Amino acid sequence: MTAARVALVTGGIGGIGTAICQRLARDGFRVVANHHPSEQEAAEAWKNDQAGLGFDMETIAGDVSSFDDSKRMADEVRAQHGPVAVLVNCAGITRDKTFKKMEEDAWRVVIDVNLNSVYNVTRNVWECMLEAGFGRVINISSVNGQRGQFGQTNYATAKAGMHGFTMSLAQEGAAKGITVNTVSPGYVETPMTLAMRDDVREAIVAGVPMRRMGKPEEIASAVAFLVADENGYVTGVNLPVNGGLFMH
Ligand code: CAA
Repeated sequence: MTAARVALVTGGIGGIGTAICQRLARDGFRVVANHHPSEQEAAEAWKNDQAGLGFDMETIAGDVSSFDDSKRMADEVRAQHGPVAVLVNCAGITRDKTFKKMEEDAWRVVIDVNLNSVYNVTRNVWECMLEAGFGRVINISSVNGQRGQFGQTNYATAKAGMHGFTMSLAQEGAAKGITVNTVSPGYVETPMTLAMRDDVREAIVAGVPMRRMGKPEEIASAVAFLVADENGYVTGVNLPVNGGLFMH
């Protein structure tokens, strides 16, 4: 029996991350869910909850906004579980503010966690993928990276940047057996969207053609599609999963 391929999911214990971890575990991957080092207790509780649901998954602390910590994390995953075959860059935060109120901190932390993290983590697993002649990199962006959003100059910039990264790295991976794709969720039922003011969220959802928010499992399903062996000819795409909120 060959060992299961390893899938590393950054932000793996979050709303969308959890659904992606569960789906990849169901699809036969050895799943390692990354979390921020400050979330150690939450990660242990998460792992127990997942075990209770029948999922045998690993967790690993790592600050993806730091190159050095991302390298340490990638090295640890490789040593403990094997080379990363699937990387899902899902770690993300919001610091929503109108631009006139946006302090430098709110700009920088969102760019660091949402965009620079994609370089930090992917750079540290890329050589494993090249050596293996196989890899899947999935970047979880956002509808707001495609269309912009009032109050999100920082977030939309980072999310739009992710797809530039995808299209470029997809070209470098194409002849090496590695695909690189983006999934752009719309408004999904997670703690991140729940943190929005109710009236603002309700107004946005009223404008979604499907008149509802997405479910984390619907994002995980798009990830599973892009990860599947049979979809190895799909690379450099930005797959929207947004209930029709933005079409192009
Ligand atoms: N377009 C144009 N004008 C708008 C507007 C819009 N979409 N929304 C608000 N305004 C106007 C208001 O009418 C108001 O005008 P006046 O000053 O003339 O009265 C002004 O802008 C200020 O509006 P707010 O009261 O909303 O400002 P605020 O400072 O209280 O709040 C904000 C600002 C927190 C950024 C709030 O606007 C907001 O939450 N926006 C939505 C941000 C959002 O969509 N976040 C998504 C989080 S989830 C996520 O990011 C996941 C994902 O990928 C989808």
